[in-house]
Amino acid sequence: MKAIVLKDFGGVENLQIEEIPLPEIAPNEVLVETKSISINPVDIKTRSGRGLTARLKEFNPIILGWDISVVVVETGSAVTKFSKGDEVFGMVNFPGHGKAYAQFVAAPENHLAKKPPSVSFEEAAVSTLAALTALEGLRDKLNIKQDDKLLIHAAAGGVGHFAVQLAKQMGAWVIGTASGSNREFVLGIGADEFVDYRTENLAEVVKDVDKVFDSIGGENIDLSLKVMKPGGLILCIPSGRNELVQEKAAAAGFTGMTMMVHSNGLNQEQIAGFLEKKLIKAHISKRFSFEQMQDAHLQIESGRTVGKIVINI
Ligand SMILES: NC(=O)c1ccc[n+]([C@@H]2O[C@H](COP(=O)([O-])OP(=O)(O)OC[C@H]3O[C@@H](n4cnc5c(N)ncnc54)[C@H](OP(=O)(O)O)[C@@H]3O)[C@@H](O)[C@H]2O)c1
Repeated sequence: MKAIVLKDFGGVENLQIEEIPLPEIAPNEVLVETKSISINPVDIKTRSGRGLTARLKEFNPIILGWDISVVVVETGSAVTKFSKGDEVFGMVNFPGHGKAYAQFVAAPENHLAKKPPSVSFEEAAVSTLAALTALEGLRDKLNIKQDDKLLIHAAAGGVGHFAVQLAKQMGAWVIGTASGSNREFVLGIGADEFVDYRTENLAEVVKDVDKVFDSIGGENIDLSLKVMKPGGLILCIPSGRNELVQEKAAAAGFTGMTMMVHSNGLNQEQIAGFLEKKLIKAHISKRFSFEQMQDAHLQIESGRTVGKIVINI
């Protein structure tokens, strides 16, 4: 089968297509044939020697990728939920060796959910790591309740655009930040208010926020703490830029949190339900072929992606 192997940590030229043997499945795994896959900033960080490098560097070959939308072609002896021919999707083996940049993947059944027939392979592929992060962050970390005033930074991005839609389902009042060119997009997916972080001073236009979902980190933490209400919570997700959130929040009288999303078939089933009922929708701004993976990496690396991008195998 064809797979994209990471030859060394560094630039996109290290992502190379090779012929490798089909993966073997464990009793709890299914062998799946990929239709569409998705990538995230963690793919870029890991490719360049950060992110999950420490966990993956001992493997040979290293195959990046976690987000898949697939058809089951074989089931392990202990698999009970899926059969040959089922269309399924999910984030596999995160944070471990996902090996999703390949024509076939060995995937644990409890990392997957059935793809609703009305949802395309493309939409399912992108509604994985980013959507699971938004769900886990809002529901389990920030414990979003009806009428919470919630500030979502990077509301136009992969995680952010799912967070805006899920938070509205949970009853929050949502303020989204992005650059001015994404104003209509962020308001269009349901945000109640929009802040252009490039031209507006957050502290002048926003106040009394109950909760913050921050995908930017660094000095964005300090900006967010200035607009929060006593008792406020801030979740900051980008590793490498979120380490001080607990300390800074505590010093200002708030609660700061970090998180690391994990593969979770039950959460993926919830996402499947939201997609099927059209309560959320994935926005796909660009499509790439398997052979264009290097270009797909450069797109995510730009930091300007609107919604998600998809790679069709
Ligand atoms: N801890 C975890 O489990 C976890 C899980 C998922 C993601 N993450 C991390 O979360 C971060 C975001 O991931 P993602 O997939 O959403 O990334 P993404 O899709 O690449 O984000 C791109 C978006 O960020 C916006 N943006 C950039 N700078 C901004 C700023 N200063 N203020 C507001 N918006 C800004 C851009 O909008 P404009 O073009 O309008 O600026 C763009 O739409 C990454 O660092 C990722 O590694 C962590």
